[in-house]
Amino acid sequence: MSQFLFGVFPYIASVLAVVITIYEYRRNSFHFSSISSQFLEGRKLFWGSIPWHYGVLTVLLGHLLAFLFPSAYIAFAKVPMRLLILEVISLVCGFMAFLGLVMLFKRRMLDSRINIITTNFDISLLLLLLIQVASGVGVALFYRWGSSWYASAVVPYLRSLWVLDPEISYIANMPFVVKLHVFNSFLIVAIIPFTRLMHFLVAPVHYFWRPYQIVIWNWSRRKIRKADQQ
Ligand code: HEM
Repeated sequence: MSQFLFGVFPYIASVLAVVITIYEYRRNSFHFSSISSQFLEGRKLFWGSIPWHYGVLTVLLGHLLAFLFPSAYIAFAKVPMRLLILEVISLVCGFMAFLGLVMLFKRRMLDSRINIITTNFDISLLLLLLIQVASGVGVALFYRWGSSWYASAVVPYLRSLWVLDPEISYIANMPFVVKLHVFNSFLIVAIIPFTRLMHFLVAPVHYFWRPYQIVIWNWSRRKIRKADQQ
């Protein structure tokens, strides 16, 4: 079972993600969008989306850096105070991401206007992301110094996948919550092309150097939204 979940499924997920993403991009590149719902509801979106994105992008950056430079990461975190600072920053960002995600989930379920345009894929994606963040925060809370053994045990496993020689012994005996975190991440990769998650593949980085664009509202947004809800 472990062999399939951690040695085979990651490849199925990656192939699905790459092939269907390319197919979808060629077929209908409009799908490559977060399909914003801001025009329908803005306040809850703000309180959900901002902490979610800042939290998750910081945590992902930490994962990526430790994946790319594991030895430098381990050497850096050898000083207890540095390790503590890294752990605290990750935990705070994990909590931010979790609370933002709960808000986004509530918004999709309970706001009548948003609920109408919400698909089963939207709900499945948010649920998988909730499991991912909750299990990550769980590891941080219940297993000490996860950032260090991520670099020394999980990274070698991920690298072994990358070189097509899966070495699952690295994680076979890890606690359940760690395995859940790892496996669920592959599930999320697998559903990328079916969901609005594709938007992060086309992050609008060119916004940093394009000329300013000024958006002017000719009416009161609050009034319009309230009128629609009556
Ligand atoms: C690369 C940088 C990213 C940018 C610029 C970005 C931007 C956005 C934008 C503009 C929205 C739409 C908000 C709206 O409805 O108006 C959105 C929604 C969303 N983003 Fe991102 N995003 C990024 C990365 C990510 C990542 C890495 C994840 C997940 C791991 C993610 C997950 C989501 C989800 C789940 C939603 C939908 C929320 C909802 O409507 O319920 N985003 N993002």
